[in-house]
Parts: sequence; C-alpha cells; structure tokens
Amino acid sequence: MKKKLVIYSTTDGQTLSICRKLEEILRETAVVSLKALLDCSQEDLENADQIVLGASIRYGKHNPSVKKFVESNRKLLEGKKTAFFSVNVVARKPNKNSPETNPYLKKFLYSTSWNPDVLGVFAGKIDYPKYGFFDKQMIRLIMYITNGPTDINGSYEFTDWKKVEEFGQKLMR
Ligand SMILES: Cc1cc2nc3c(=O)[nH]c(=O)nc-3n(C[C@H](O)[C@H](O)[C@H](O)COP(=O)(O)O)c2cc1C
Repeated sequence: MKKKLVIYSTTDGQTLSICRKLEEILRETAVVSLKALLDCSQEDLENADQIVLGASIRYGKHNPSVKKFVESNRKLLEGKKTAFFSVNVVARKPNKNSPETNPYLKKFLYSTSWNPDVLGVFAGKIDYPKYGFFDKQMIRLIMYITNGPTDINGSYEFTDWKKVEEFGQKLMR
C-alpha cells in the first residue's frame, strides 16, 4: 500500500478538520499519517509516496513556517507526488475559490516557485467566540467591509465539504 502524509498548519483547527476528512478518504487505499507541520520529521517526509500540505491564512499570510518548510525541502518535494491547499475566508466568494482565482494561493505559489501536482482552496470558518478582543474587532470589520457575518456571538462555517471530498478523490488518482 502507498504511504501518504497529510500535514497541516492551523491556528484555530479548521485546516486540521479538513485534513482529518482527507485522511479518512485516503485511508481507503493507502497508509496515511497526519502530522502538524512543526512535528513533521525528515523521516516522515522521506517515507511518504505522496505529501499533502494544508495551511490557513491569518492577516493575509500563511504561517511563515509553511514557506520555510517548502524552501528547506524543495528537492524532496520535487521528487514526490505533492498537493497543497489554502484555507481562508476570502474563498467563500465564488470568484475567489479556485487555485486560479484565490489571491493567497497564487501569491504563495509565486513566492515559493513550488509546483504541486494538485492544488486546492477551501473556505474556512469564522468563530467569533473563540477570538480575543483585537482579532474579534478586526475580523468583524473585515466581514462588514466584505458583506460577511458580523454578529460576534456566532460561528460560521463556510467550508464546502463536498469540495473537500472531491479534492480527496483527486489525491487518490
Ligand atoms: C485573526 C484572524 C485573521 C484572519 N485573516 C484572514 C485574512 O487575511 N484573509 C482571509 O481570507 N481569511 C482570514 N482569516 C480567516 C481564516 O483563514 C479562517 O478562519 C480559517 O478557517 C482559519 O483556519 P484555521 O482554523 O486552520 O487556522 C482570519 C482569521 C483570523 C482569526
């Protein structure tokens, strides 16, 4: 059986939830490991036939460790089947929810010159009660400007799980 490694970079857990769903799908045909980016060892990477990396956006950027990871493992990544996906709330807009149209994914790929075999973009979640005072105000302002939900008592999941499933199926091909 093929060995697949699913790596996540998350702050609030939505990217991890998506990775768990992918893990469940990939388990049908492969041995799958799920790892946080910072817990991922060189051995984990070398042992995998396919590497899937998912990362969320915060204030316009993926965590700096994501770019660092790609840069320090470029050679290894180029020699394997790879996939990358970004999780952000801009992707709830139909005109920004594909690898060709999502500004964060495009910018990230441009800045790393990495060329994964499969690309994905998923809308994330706004979970106001989880956020500290500053983040809550900032997100509320951004949501107000972009016609999103502004009730800070609410939690709003935009993730299209059918799209996650389709992405998972693509990873099996
Ligand atoms: C403090 C903060 C800043 C964020 N900044 C952005 C942003 O600049 N653009 C965007 O599209 N989404 C932004 N988001 C939305 C996150 O990408 C979304 O909540 C995602 O689900 C987070 O994934 P995670 O739970 O895996 O960290 C932000 C969320 C928070 C809490």
